[in-house]
Amino acid sequence: MSDLSKITCIEDLRQVAQRRVPRMFYDYADSGAWTESTYRENERAFQKIKLRQRVAMNMEDRSTGSTMIGEEVAMPVALAPTGLTGMQWADGEILAARAAKDFGGPFTLSTLSICSLEDVAQATGRHPFWFQLYVTRDRDFMARLIDRAKAAHCSALQLTLDLQILGQRHKDIKNGLSTPPKPTLANLINLATKPRWCLNMLGTQRRSFGNVVGHAKNVSDNASLASWILEQFDPALNWNDVERIKRLWGGKLVLKGIMDAEDARLAADSGADALIVSNHGGRQLDGAPATIDVLPSIVQAVGKRIEVWLDSGIRSGQDVLKACALGARGTLIGRAFLYGLGAYGQAGVTRALEIIHKELDLTMAFCGRTRIDAVDESILLPGTY
Ligand code: GLV
Repeated sequence: MSDLSKITCIEDLRQVAQRRVPRMFYDYADSGAWTESTYRENERAFQKIKLRQRVAMNMEDRSTGSTMIGEEVAMPVALAPTGLTGMQWADGEILAARAAKDFGGPFTLSTLSICSLEDVAQATGRHPFWFQLYVTRDRDFMARLIDRAKAAHCSALQLTLDLQILGQRHKDIKNGLSTPPKPTLANLINLATKPRWCLNMLGTQRRSFGNVVGHAKNVSDNASLASWILEQFDPALNWNDVERIKRLWGGKLVLKGIMDAEDARLAADSGADALIVSNHGGRQLDGAPATIDVLPSIVQAVGKRIEVWLDSGIRSGQDVLKACALGARGTLIGRAFLYGLGAYGQAGVTRALEIIHKELDLTMAFCGRTRIDAVDESILLPGTY
């Protein structure tokens, strides 16, 4: 087991992950669409917001505990659904789900995961996790996925609304992203410099899209899988589908990818339990604003009708606190935990959660608050948000 005591921030984890994980998969996790301006803006916008330091306010007995759609969480942070997580570290989804469970936070499994719904359910002793769903043209496959998520005891469904078409990620195109990687000369040269990753991957059979292969028609190998994904994201997705999926699922529903007050009102009208202010980590529409910049208008538009969560750009507990101050009931981290996973496996995800928790707790104290529900705009410096 590695000594992680000198890993003190998410950036430390990112650097180790970049050294260990093959370029194709590291870049997949860490890139944005086109010029990556939205990807960068997500982080920059958090940094512009300044905090009001308070003193002598009795900061004993603090708690970062809260709830997200009624589920108790050790802090208002869930692991976001991320594609190909099991290519950062063998069986990565299982390890991340275990780390989240031990920490007291939700884990969300992506449709495009390497480990399947059944794998994760079995490996976590059926501890409830969340499942993220894409609307596919093959509606039978989608209906079966929903049934499988029920059978796996998923306690919420996150429906992604912002991936009807795929944002162009130049690095993925240049790297020829595929899983497993094709044995091209460039890939082989890069893999030769990542012996620890290669050895780790040899220890698992799970190297392709576990929720799809063997479950969707005409998908038996990875070449056809890649074309299946391109063909299957449904550009016709609309609010009638949301209603239909809500009925099919019948449980807690979270709508992911809302960036506009008008859409937020429709999300609240749909009767969903939460919406996620998200620009997909800057991976879809390059040129969209940072999520933290649109959060206030969305909170104002929906009031208390639906829980508002936020993702994209969170790299510290301070970012979590700023999102809560501007009205988010919860947040999700994607890259922040993927760096930990790519660097050190399960221990790295745990470390990422610990780092964010520490930063959140200390910042809350410096701002003179001892409970998350006492955090509001008044902890922020006016004029900086
Ligand atoms: C999938 O959600 C991706 O962003 O690649």
